[in-house]
Amino acid sequence: MRVGVLTGGGDCPGLNAVIRAVVRKGIGVHGFEFVGYREGWRGPLEGVTTPLTIDDVRGILPRGGTILRSSRTNPFALEDGVERIKANLAGDGVDALIAIGGEDTLGVATKLADLGVNVVGVPKTIDNDLSGTDFTFGFDTAVNIAMEAIDRLHTTAESHHRAVVVEVMGRHAGWIALHAGMAAGANVILIPEQPFDIDEVVKHVQSRFEIDYSPILVVSEGAVPREGGEMTLQSGERDSFGHVRLGGIGERIAAEIEERTGKEARAVVLGHVQRGGTPTARDRWMATRFGLSAIDAVAESDYGTMVALRGKDIVRVPLIEGTGELKVVSPEEYAEAEVFFG
Ligand code: F6P
Repeated sequence: MRVGVLTGGGDCPGLNAVIRAVVRKGIGVHGFEFVGYREGWRGPLEGVTTPLTIDDVRGILPRGGTILRSSRTNPFALEDGVERIKANLAGDGVDALIAIGGEDTLGVATKLADLGVNVVGVPKTIDNDLSGTDFTFGFDTAVNIAMEAIDRLHTTAESHHRAVVVEVMGRHAGWIALHAGMAAGANVILIPEQPFDIDEVVKHVQSRFEIDYSPILVVSEGAVPREGGEMTLQSGERDSFGHVRLGGIGERIAAEIEERTGKEARAVVLGHVQRGGTPTARDRWMATRFGLSAIDAVAESDYGTMVALRGKDIVRVPLIEGTGELKVVSPEEYAEAEVFFG
């Protein structure tokens, strides 16, 4: 059996841990051979491959990023995309494919599975917004990076008696903002699921300034003001899945705070720092177990499935369960964070 492996979408810490586990168990236990596809769906689309042996995966467990590289290529945006993928897989003698990715990459995998491609999905995203799994790997690392940054911003904010607005990633879901904000004691947390009222935000900031405290606000990049409704765009650019490039909400809120309170405010955009570097122990553990389960799914011809974490168990669910609907923060979970606002 020859198995293809690809990583697509935004990179995230733990991708290499999955690749290593897939290859180690695939060769060591099941006796499979592997083909690495480069740069997400661009690999099978254009026939760009790389060897994937035990030697190739040695030493990659703690390394961030992905040795297979990634891209946001969408084969369904091309007329002959699916035919080209099928032809290249056949040409490479690949019997099954493991696709490691988020909403978009696994969305493509879901459609390909329906079209007869033998595919198993592994869910990844720092955003943690994939359904069907309690958590995705990469999220814990991103939250810890954001928490440490917020801790550091507290002390510099105090020294200058300023407000600091920390913009974190999270296009449609506020999981990073919620977890990092709660862990680091943010005074306000704004997420895409709960459009915010700028008057209320300023009130929380004022009340902190009044007790001689320098407020810290944590804002998801996809947070939207109640009155506007439109996401704040840094550019009109869209990727091949139609997503706009976000950014700028932190700056807008900081400017509003300065104007309305007369106090200084600064915006800090954590950006891709949240996706870089070595994964936490929890993400390495989850990614490794996902990899082991994904290659077992291939061995059992259990295609059209995605591995998932449920409690402490790794299970398999139909791919559509992961990609059909995004997992977002509930009003109840947000209410827990609100207790600490102001
Ligand atoms: O999906 C993961 C993510 O990091 C989002 O949080 C963010 O909006 C997006 O990717 C950024 O994408 P890019 O790396 O293409 O700028």
